[in-house]
Amino acid sequence: NVPVITIDGPGGVGKGTLSRLLAARLGWHLLDSGLIYRAAGLAAARAGLLQAQPLDEVPLIALARDLPLHFAEQDAATHAFLHGEDVTEELRSAEAGQRASQLAVIADLRRALLQRQRDFRQPPGLVADGRDMGTVVFPDAPLKVFITASVEERSKRRLKQLLEQGASATLAQVEREIAERDRRDRERSVAPLVPAPDARVLDNSGQTIEQTFRVLEGWTRD
Ligand code: CDP
Repeated sequence: NVPVITIDGPGGVGKGTLSRLLAARLGWHLLDSGLIYRAAGLAAARAGLLQAQPLDEVPLIALARDLPLHFAEQDAATHAFLHGEDVTEELRSAEAGQRASQLAVIADLRRALLQRQRDFRQPPGLVADGRDMGTVVFPDAPLKVFITASVEERSKRRLKQLLEQGASATLAQVEREIAERDRRDRERSVAPLVPAPDARVLDNSGQTIEQTFRVLEGWTRD
């Protein structure tokens, strides 16, 4: 049985960076499951499927199931290809995150993405980053981590990240966006954002990435 470490939590806790560091340290594969939801959201927007409110779920589920999506590691980052086109940059935007969280409430769409995520479990091991990695996708993972931090802290980190990427945003905008996405992720009836019962929970407010990483590394040795 190939080992998996799941790293779940809300946006802005540094999951992406921490998962990448941990996968590199262990020499394991990495799954950024949010990228799959973001890609599904982009494909849906391009197909004009996000205009109707409420959303028409049937075509969205079919689209997610058949999504021609591939990943490749390039320059120490995961690049996503939709129909062979590198859409990585587009998937990083706040808009892409919002679209992802709109689709993420659809139970059958989540189910349609399950196998695609489980296929990442290849020897020698997998670090899986997301919202429901420990609760739904890899419930048998031997190590489950749930990272949280205050909304203020996460917003500051996310703002810094956006500004570094050359995007323009204000702290108030980012806080609103994070709070809205948190609410949607926690309140949805399917795979809501909660720690698995057997997860180790870590609030990393006030910690640097290096400090949190040392905690995680310690847990992998327990
Ligand atoms: O890190 P950040 O919150 O910015 O975004 P992400 O991890 O790329 O996820 C974007 C959105 O996809 C989240 O707000 C969730 O609604 C959804 N998602 C999910 O429902 N389940 C996952 N395993 C990963 C992402």
